[in-house]
Amino acid sequence: MIERTYVMLKPDGVRKQLLDEIIHRIENIGLSVSNVKEMYLDEEIIREHYAHLVDKPFYPTLELFMMSGPVMAMIVEGENAVSRVRSLMGATDSKDALPGTIRGDYGDKTCCTYNIIHGSDSLENAEIEINRFYPELKKNKVLKK
Ligand code: PPS
Repeated sequence: MIERTYVMLKPDGVRKQLLDEIIHRIENIGLSVSNVKEMYLDEEIIREHYAHLVDKPFYPTLELFMMSGPVMAMIVEGENAVSRVRSLMGATDSKDALPGTIRGDYGDKTCCTYNIIHGSDSLENAEIEINRFYPELKKNKVLKK
C-alpha cells in the first residue's frame, strides 16, 4: 500500500549535517521525499507531539533537546513507507540500534534522547503528524475542495 509518513531530522542530526545522507538513504530504498523544511519547535508543538510522554521522567530533557536547534521536517511517500522508514531508523535507543540503521550509525549510544531522527509509528499517527507540522498543506486541501 502506498503510504505517507512524517519524518523529522532532530537537532542532533541537523548539527551532524545528516540531511543529505538521510534523504539519500530514504530515496535509496525507493521512497520519495518532499516538503523538506527547517523548523524551530516551541514548547507547545513539542508537548502536542510528545503528549503521551509528558509525564515521563525524561520529558524535560527531551523538550530541551528538541528546542536546542532547528529540525528538518519532511514527508516521505511510497510502498509501506511507515514501517520501512522505521526499519531504516533502527531501535529508539541508539545503543540497541543495529549498524547500518540511521540510529545505529549516528545516534548517541550514551543517551536514548539523542537519536537523530523521528518517524511516525503508524499510518494514523503519520496523518496526524503531517497535519501538525504542515498546517499549510491542510489549508490547501480544504481550499481545493
Ligand atoms: S517509539 O519508539 O517512538 O515508538 O516509542 P515511544 O515510547 O512512543 O516514544 C519514545 C520517544 O521518546 C523519546 N525519548 C525517550 N524514550 C525513552 N527513553 C528516553 N530516555 C527517551 N528520551 C527521549 C524517543 O526518542 C522517542 O521519540 P521519537 O521522536 O518518537 O523517536
